[in-house]
Amino acid sequence: MLSLNLKHVLPFLSYDEIFSMEQEVTQNLELLQKKTGLGNDFLGWMDLPVSYDHQTLSRFHDLSNEFRNKIDFLVVIGIGGSYLGARAIADALSDNFSFVKEKKPTPKILFAGHHLSEEYLYELMEFLNDQSYGIVVISKSGTTTEPALAFRLLKNHLQSKVGPDEAIKRIIAITDAKKGALRQMSELEGYQTFIIPDNVGGRFSVFSPVGLLPLSIIGVDIKNLLEGAKEMMDITSLDVSFKENPASLYAAVRNGLYRKGKNIEILVNYNPKLNYFAEWWKQLFGESEGKENKGIFPASVSYTTDLHSLGQYIQDGLRNIFETIITVKRSRHAIIVPNDKKDLDKLNYISGKQIDEVNKMAELGTIIAHVDGGVPNLQIEIDALDEFHLGQMIYLFEKACAISGYTLGINPFDQPGVEAYKKNMFALLGKPGYEKETENIKNKLT
Ligand code: PA5
Repeated sequence: MLSLNLKHVLPFLSYDEIFSMEQEVTQNLELLQKKTGLGNDFLGWMDLPVSYDHQTLSRFHDLSNEFRNKIDFLVVIGIGGSYLGARAIADALSDNFSFVKEKKPTPKILFAGHHLSEEYLYELMEFLNDQSYGIVVISKSGTTTEPALAFRLLKNHLQSKVGPDEAIKRIIAITDAKKGALRQMSELEGYQTFIIPDNVGGRFSVFSPVGLLPLSIIGVDIKNLLEGAKEMMDITSLDVSFKENPASLYAAVRNGLYRKGKNIEILVNYNPKLNYFAEWWKQLFGESEGKENKGIFPASVSYTTDLHSLGQYIQDGLRNIFETIITVKRSRHAIIVPNDKKDLDKLNYISGKQIDEVNKMAELGTIIAHVDGGVPNLQIEIDALDEFHLGQMIYLFEKACAISGYTLGINPFDQPGVEAYKKNMFALLGKPGYEKETENIKNKLT
């Protein structure tokens, strides 16, 4: 079960103010649901949780079994929406120490192609020299520099390690049905492929093969993930009233706060396993809403760690922020604080309590302090950190982001600003076709 708690927002945005946005937000939900709003050719994500056929799911299943039997590591190559969803879910579900523990029955996941660090690529290949591994390369456009470069290197590495024929069997490409260099290369070299549908943008692609295939290979229960998403699809539909619809309410509250000058939203967790979930969330909202000189800047913190760093700013700095907390009600394991006869560390006052209870009191204490300090707090509460609830949260945020983007008055499904750095990088590197840009940028630099 997932619930949205608005209690700690009300001192800043009253129920009347939230409900004054009902009509506007519901109209935007209608635009989305009826597919008549901006970017309506990119709404395929809305139905992904219910559009899987048995055949595709069993193909995931068969490939996962095949990979599990021959590899210890799965290297997922991709950037932005082509990797963050899988990484967010894999991290949230993994054991913190799985990398130093004995081999599991399922492969461990590694990532590449999400930056251009030479040191990372060198060290990754050095590590892979002694490991058996396979590759899932993901790029919708099939032409993104970071993953293309990582794939060129790792493909060569794998070929020289296991030979060209075996390498082909250990590479899966997820890309566009027809266009792009990766599609062409897959066909010429004979890799197995999965398609990213035309109408699904990168950051909305978690429930497409982009997220589901790598997660299935590492043993995530993708059926439960989809079940959670399906349930969220139902409870955020147009048939549900505004006051019961968590996507509409979340979109209304964040826009209401934004209109009152709160232009930074911080996603808060109390479990570092959610740090990459926050990275996924930042990409979703940042790339969807930061346009036309508008938008809430999405940031994130992990408490209580960051209460000893950014916590100072959040408590006392500029009052342009609000927080959205992910509260996980049940911890996966229980540890009771032991009693100590000498009590030199003065902790006996909490002996007998579960560590998670201490964490929850830190959370409540922080909420009260931040609200007292002028920071509105929204709370998203889930029962447990498992596939079902992650599926629910991802769908909730996707839907809320789309409604919120419309409420902000922008197209949440494009990302024109991402091209600016690429154009300059290509010009600086002398990419064919960029001769004019190369000349212009050289003039700028002299
Ligand atoms: O959300 C998006 O569309 C982007 O973040 C893309 O996923 C990212 O730029 C990677 O693009 P591609 O999958 O084409 O390599």
